[in-house]
Amino acid sequence: MPPPLLQARDLRVTLRTPRGEAAAVRGLSFTLERGETLGLIGESGSGKSMTALALMGLAPEGAALSGSLQLDGQELLGLHERAWCDIRGRRIAMIFQEPMTALNPVHPIGRQVAEPMRLHQGLSAAAARQRTVELLARVGIAEPEHRLGAFPHQFSGGQRQRIMIAMALACAPDVLVADEPTTALDATVQRQVLRLISELVAERGMALLLISHDLALVAQSVQRMMVMYGGIVVEEGTTERVFNHPAHPYTRGLLAARPHLAQRLAGHAGDRLPTIAGSVPELWALPPGCTFAGRCAFTAPGCAHAAPPAVALPAPGHLARCLRPEALTAPAGA
Ligand SMILES: Nc1ncnc2c1ncn2[C@@H]1O[C@H](COP(=O)(O)OP(=O)(O)O)[C@@H](O)[C@H]1O
Ligand SMILES: [Mg+2]
Repeated sequence: MPPPLLQARDLRVTLRTPRGEAAAVRGLSFTLERGETLGLIGESGSGKSMTALALMGLAPEGAALSGSLQLDGQELLGLHERAWCDIRGRRIAMIFQEPMTALNPVHPIGRQVAEPMRLHQGLSAAAARQRTVELLARVGIAEPEHRLGAFPHQFSGGQRQRIMIAMALACAPDVLVADEPTTALDATVQRQVLRLISELVAERGMALLLISHDLALVAQSVQRMMVMYGGIVVEEGTTERVFNHPAHPYTRGLLAARPHLAQRLAGHAGDRLPTIAGSVPELWALPPGCTFAGRCAFTAPGCAHAAPPAVALPAPGHLARCLRPEALTAPAGA
């Protein structure tokens, strides 16, 4: 059997900070094949972006990575920057929350979308221009041949996001990592952009890792989900199970805390979850036990001391990490 397209095994990212070592990702394992879509969900500060950066070979300077991350069986951890440059964009591409982190404000967009194709695929200027026009048309930019010379600020936020998607797709990557790709957009545009990403992923047979703080928003876009808290996946399973039968108290809290539609339409949807009391723990002061202990309604004295085991739930592949299995099967709303 060929190796999986992308496989993480016990992936850990430890940051060196002035206050000591901070374990931002603590033992992440998953596989992702072509055509598969996986969500990574959690509040701000859970370690989602650090995971995405590790998958792109972009972890901050001084970060220690361990475990394994393989693409088609090739180990990526420990690769030199030159080897990463060949993978980034061509095999694994990323889109971010804020398109201006990827788009250069002083260069015309046509040149920016074309650049990776010239760099990685050696296309001539004319061929890259032709592909750029096609890509921009595909992501929904009207009359792209007349907009190649326009600058990022001449587009709306939603259009800029579409341009960044075109840029990420330029070299036909196998894996697309989308880190909060719609968080900066209003509710209607959010859905349009998510639909575009889903269409493109299906059309091109890519694998998608879709990162969001909003479980319900991305539920329609992914087949499976991992819910992350304090750098640890506390629940995973098919989207159907995790969304309709959430087991971990944190996952239930995330769903309960989802801002109401009216709030979202008014543009007040933030990425904080005020209805789960407390906040994400400081990484350098993590308790030895369950990271959610203290914020969880089911906390018992033992929770702060022992690491929670993965508990298998009735549906295949549905797991939650908890020391108190009764918490996982308590009636919803408890
Ligand atoms: N460059 C950095 N140096 C030190 N700590 C960082 C750095 N970037 C992020 N962190 C910390 O790592 C943790 C995880 O952050 P992040 O992955 O950005 O979370 P998320 O994307 O889920 O909001 C947070 O506690 C954050 O403060
Ligand atoms: Mg983030």
